[in-house]
Amino acid sequence: MSRLTVAPGGAVRGQLRVPGDKSISHRALLLGALARGTSTVRGLSTGDDVARTRQAVAALGVEVVDHPPDGAGGAGGRWLTTAVSSGGPGALREPGDVLDVGNSGTTLRLLCGVAASLPFLTVLTGDASLRRRPVDRVAEPLRAMGARVDGRDGGRLPPVAVRGGGLRGGELTVAVPSAQVKSAIILAALGADGPTVVHQPVPTRAHTEELLVRAGAQVTVADGGRTVTVRPGPVAPLDLTVPGDPSQAAFWLVAAALAPESDVVVEDVYAGPARRGFLEVLARMGALVEPVEGGGLRSRHVGRLRATDVAAEEVPGLVDEIPVLAVAAAAAEGTSRFAGLGELRLKESDRVAAVAAALRTLGVGCEVHGDDLVVAGGRLGGGTVQAGHDHRMAMAMAVAGVVAAEPVTIEGWESVATSYPGFERQLDACRS
Ligand code: S3P
Repeated sequence: MSRLTVAPGGAVRGQLRVPGDKSISHRALLLGALARGTSTVRGLSTGDDVARTRQAVAALGVEVVDHPPDGAGGAGGRWLTTAVSSGGPGALREPGDVLDVGNSGTTLRLLCGVAASLPFLTVLTGDASLRRRPVDRVAEPLRAMGARVDGRDGGRLPPVAVRGGGLRGGELTVAVPSAQVKSAIILAALGADGPTVVHQPVPTRAHTEELLVRAGAQVTVADGGRTVTVRPGPVAPLDLTVPGDPSQAAFWLVAAALAPESDVVVEDVYAGPARRGFLEVLARMGALVEPVEGGGLRSRHVGRLRATDVAAEEVPGLVDEIPVLAVAAAAAEGTSRFAGLGELRLKESDRVAAVAAALRTLGVGCEVHGDDLVVAGGRLGGGTVQAGHDHRMAMAMAVAGVVAAEPVTIEGWESVATSYPGFERQLDACRS
């Protein structure tokens, strides 16, 4: 296990690019696998999670080839360009082995949806953290559509085995506010025998719907994103530049809002639905984050932040930003409350428990009441905190280290590689 010690003090300044959005990157590869022809994707996320999706589609018979910036293939420009070539769903083949998706919950859930539409056996597993995360939330609706899905612990946990094909359309309601579950159903529905209507209680990130519309699939969205209708049919190859990941931008924007004299611009950040809730929370806290030309965001320190309350209804729109928002709350004036964090207990770690434990280690008053988190703002001290196989915990604690009174050491720093291999280098560069 590796560790990183972040020394406190100093401003965060500069202009940076964050990795391509992770959610969009996974979906671009999966849709590339379902399209007949070659999709061109620029700026895929460089993290291990997306590499796992890439390995999985390769195991299904898809060719994925990178052209580095200015490299072979005439790609040119500033992005890694990836060509995803497939013969379409009919040409995909049964993988010869179990697919190991590492730490990537998105690969696991979305691939279950794709596998449900394919007439062969796909078996998925992952690392110890992933094997503790539930799959019944996707297994149940996929079974209702006609797939055979089983897993460990009565079908609740990975490894999970999916024998797909022969899917029925129909009407399904997603019981949990999860874009992953919604997306698994939508991807499966492309191969069903008729239209599928998916209802969800609250809108969640809409990347699957957005990309499918771009790929010419018959997908319609109604009721403010709560109802999605999918008609089976082919998807066309994509030609796509993946925008920067707002969840990764959040670390820099919060760090700059907290550290005196900071001024940071994050270039080209995705601005679609259910991804920018954290910006509203930061605005309520008194942070100054402004759009800049070309889709970027600029954050400047303008004084101490104020506490805020985050309502349960807001959580699906900022689900991945809670750890770093909790760090902002710990440095703010007053007591902040985050309500309805149940879904966070099912992430790469139990993020409610992990955030509370880490902040307490740093001397912050932090209480957990059921699925609510209460953070008493004040002084962040130093100490050694655990990332717990969770990249977002690791990076949130690095932000804490920037503004703490003493050094913060993060045990398990290697988990950052799942989504943001260049984070440490950029952190050094914007503090020097
Ligand atoms: C994701 C959806 C979210 C998020 C995860 C990525 C996606 O999970 O936490 O990092 O790409 O669909 P849930 O929607 O299941 O909460």
